[in-house]
Amino acid sequence: MKNTVVSFRNSKEKGKKLSVVTGYDYTTARIIDETEVEAILVGDSLGMVCLGYDSTLSVTLEDIIHHGKAVMRGVDNTLVILDMPFMSYHNTTPEAVANAGRLIKETGAHAVKLEGGVDMVEKIKAIVKAQIPVMGHLGLTPQSVNVFGGFKVQGKSEEEAKQMIKDAKALEEAGVFAIVLECVPEKLAKIVSESVSVPTIGIGSGNVCDGQVLVIQDMLNMYGDFKPKFVKTFADVGKVMREGLEAYVREVRDGTFPAKEHTFGIKDEVLEKLY
Ligand code: KIV
Ligand code: NA
Repeated sequence: MKNTVVSFRNSKEKGKKLSVVTGYDYTTARIIDETEVEAILVGDSLGMVCLGYDSTLSVTLEDIIHHGKAVMRGVDNTLVILDMPFMSYHNTTPEAVANAGRLIKETGAHAVKLEGGVDMVEKIKAIVKAQIPVMGHLGLTPQSVNVFGGFKVQGKSEEEAKQMIKDAKALEEAGVFAIVLECVPEKLAKIVSESVSVPTIGIGSGNVCDGQVLVIQDMLNMYGDFKPKFVKTFADVGKVMREGLEAYVREVRDGTFPAKEHTFGIKDEVLEKLY
């Protein structure tokens, strides 16, 4: 089935939970597209898991466009959402619209995601008005790491929790088709999810959300730098890769690879003329 922002948004009403993963390249996008995962997020987490930065702040619009194009070449049926990088929507509203427009025009992706609540409403409305679907993102919004003083669970105090509920309602009102809730206490995530009619997509926010998102390198155990509490290893692809690489080295060294079947021949009559 072809996934669109409309089918994505309507899943909540139908009680169908949504599964989202990040993706950054053609090969992985092809594999994801063969599964029932509804959406790929080209997250700015690519700064960490693909480019080796220690936060998402250095990621550029060009980075997201480059990876977004690769992902788009790999999908037929999956919804593709691109993260708006830090400082690509923090200045003026026209600049935010122009940058969202570049992401969609240059990649062919279907939607953008940006971080923030009430403060972002004006920009979200303008982007939606430009016919670009927007996904919201509340809770631990990693582009605010320096303001939060680290990667910390958000919404623990009464004030923060009330603000998050307000933010979610403001995002819905601004026209988002879904909202990511990152590292929100489960019981607050439940209240937020019940406060809006658009699906909430949780990461570290419990099974009370309308869907889940994980960084693909995290869930496949390929990224060793750090493992958040909310990550589950669904397949130990990192281990399989290391074992495969070690087997390769062994066979190269002992000459069992390449074998006959991996090797090209030449006709004897040609060969004779070479001596
Ligand atoms: O960049 C990212 O991967 C994200 C998800 C974790 C929601 O924003
Ligand atoms: Na992100």
